[in-house]
Amino acid sequence: MHRIAALLIVAMSIPAAAQTIRSTPEKLQWTLNAGEMSYVIGVNDQKMLQSLYWGPRLAPNASFPPAQAHPERASFDPPVATTPLEYAGWGAGLFTEPALKVDSPDGNRTLILLYQDARVTGPQLEVTLKDATEPVLVHLFYQLYPQGILARWTRIENTGAQPVRIEQAASATFNLPPATGYEWSWLSGQWAGEWQLHTAPIQAGTQSIESRRGSTSHQANPWFSVGRSAETTETSGPVWFGELGWSGSWRLTLEDTALNLVRITAGFNPFDFSYTLARGETLQTPPFYAGYTAGGRGEASRILHRFLLEAILPSHPDPRPRPIIYNSWEATGFNVNESGQMALAEKAAAIGVERFVIDDGWFGARNDDHAGLGDWNVNPQKFPHGLKPVIDRVHALGMDFGLWVEPEMVNLDSDLYRAHPDWAMHFPNRQRTEQRNQLVLNLARQDVKDYVFHFLDELVTDNDIAFLKWDYNRNWSEPGWDTAPDGDQKEIYVRYIQNLYDILSRLRQKHPKLEIESCSGGGGRVDLGILRYTDEVWPSDNTDALDRLSIQDGFTHAYAPQIMVAWVTDVPNYNSRSTPLQFRFLTAMQGALGVGANLNKFSENELAESRSLIALYKTIRPTIAHGRLYRLTEPAPPNPAADAAQPSNVEYVAQDGSQAVVLAYLHSQRFGLSYPAVVLRGLDPNATYTIKPLHPSQYTGELNVSGSILMGQGLALNLQGDYDSTVVVLTRR
Ligand code: GLA
Repeated sequence: MHRIAALLIVAMSIPAAAQTIRSTPEKLQWTLNAGEMSYVIGVNDQKMLQSLYWGPRLAPNASFPPAQAHPERASFDPPVATTPLEYAGWGAGLFTEPALKVDSPDGNRTLILLYQDARVTGPQLEVTLKDATEPVLVHLFYQLYPQGILARWTRIENTGAQPVRIEQAASATFNLPPATGYEWSWLSGQWAGEWQLHTAPIQAGTQSIESRRGSTSHQANPWFSVGRSAETTETSGPVWFGELGWSGSWRLTLEDTALNLVRITAGFNPFDFSYTLARGETLQTPPFYAGYTAGGRGEASRILHRFLLEAILPSHPDPRPRPIIYNSWEATGFNVNESGQMALAEKAAAIGVERFVIDDGWFGARNDDHAGLGDWNVNPQKFPHGLKPVIDRVHALGMDFGLWVEPEMVNLDSDLYRAHPDWAMHFPNRQRTEQRNQLVLNLARQDVKDYVFHFLDELVTDNDIAFLKWDYNRNWSEPGWDTAPDGDQKEIYVRYIQNLYDILSRLRQKHPKLEIESCSGGGGRVDLGILRYTDEVWPSDNTDALDRLSIQDGFTHAYAPQIMVAWVTDVPNYNSRSTPLQFRFLTAMQGALGVGANLNKFSENELAESRSLIALYKTIRPTIAHGRLYRLTEPAPPNPAADAAQPSNVEYVAQDGSQAVVLAYLHSQRFGLSYPAVVLRGLDPNATYTIKPLHPSQYTGELNVSGSILMGQGLALNLQGDYDSTVVVLTRR
């Protein structure tokens, strides 16, 4: 107890929204405040650390009685399972999701984590728990961010002489206030159809989302939000939300078990998991970030957006809006060469593109997806003089240069695989399952890690490369690591990702101007782990503008428009749909605009239209990238029963309020129905805004309109016919 006296940190004269940690040593309680959220934990009469509160920010003098473990409710409900513990070890009859499960050499598999001590350092609290007898220390970290986010992660330490095997390790458990009537939202998908938002009541029992694939996955993203069914909407009501910062296999489990207690546990996926701690060794989990707002799902997203920009991205707190990319992947496929790329570069520069990227096909014997991955030398037939002439030309045209790589993969038909077949992940004497004709390199191995770092370092050193599109086009099938010591092979799930992060981080340190995009056949690797090392992501290989409206809408629940790369591509798209060029541009403008169409086939009119839309985008880009996003409507699914023309509207308001941008899309026009008024949000009701639509005919109302009218009655837009669209710029007078 003697250390407790030193823990008292009382926040004096700190503005209301600042992050503070208040210790109440006599009760062994800690109140963590950030943004509009408070989070309170305390040590109970059984010396276990439990959750006392997670919700709206408390008054400075709010105080809780000493924490009490729940009494045994019935012989089937022991205290350990019904008390909302912060980090439960498996033991003493815990039948809910354990945060930690270990196997000790003496055969003991029970873990009872009791409070040992705590320490506050600035905005960080560390609480150490210790098993009653086993030499296992568990350090729980709580880090507050001014955006209103609490990050929690855990370091597990073996202080004994014998190794301890961890079978399950979560980052944290978050307990919701005991209540009924919760609903939760999550994002699911598939290749070319990521980011589909689902909302459903939380059911009694266990619900989980996960990836067992070795990476984040298209199928589920480690994000959740919880609301109250009767109260929570896009614009109001309580929302508890969170996101795991990990790019490997993960699991998020949401349990509604006994006494109306809902808890959310996330961390390493326990499936096929094992990690051995030798004497003195530690395992650190990824951070699990969480927040609370009373402002509905929209505000929860805006908090996450600010947090991503100001605290996570490599160039935080003020990442520059993304340059406009040209990439010919959809137009030319693997057929890239010096003259072809130079010709496209001329056209791209002429319409206002700022960054020219050569995608797949520039290296090795890479004429299709059967060969070449792993051989990162420039293909001499396609680029007989190396990349330099193209890069010089791109620079002369006023753009910077980027290159596609897929560093973690190998084709069987490659010099790398012929030289090092053992570098691919595999189980001895078992089939190596190919996907897209490729295998995954075992980045957990030091030699593979060294190889990957060195070839990338050399590539960026030898060529003037500003940007890498870092791709990752399959998941794991045989996650074997036969050169690891016996019993350690399953650590591949952790060590691979740690090495990936390490390569990215060293590369960036050595090449500080280098920017990187995280791509995995579209949005298969988007999470707050990879985003600490990458500047932007490719949300989906689906570039059809209408499909993109719902993909992008879902994406923005968890991640910011700043990082959401979107290209204008050719029509008909792969799904055979044709949309007008303007509709495609305005959809791509929701995030980081890029162009992927075959500009050689563009008419003079199309080039001119592209040039003027890109010029317009540049004037609104800071607002889109850094502003506050308001999703004004659900994205419009084709709904023949709709009783109005089907609208889809998003709005961005600059942080300083000087500009607002509305993007509006009409999917299909019903006879005789006009476009519903677009009711804006987030404006100053007392200010007047000057309104400028893309085309004068699209808005025929007053030029200068009060914010109160725009947020009351809305903006009457004249959109006509299928796939019409507009962008309206509002300038505060
Ligand atoms: C993935 C990416 C695409 C493209 C191809 C190249 O599918 O998502 O954008 O780079 O690989 O092979």
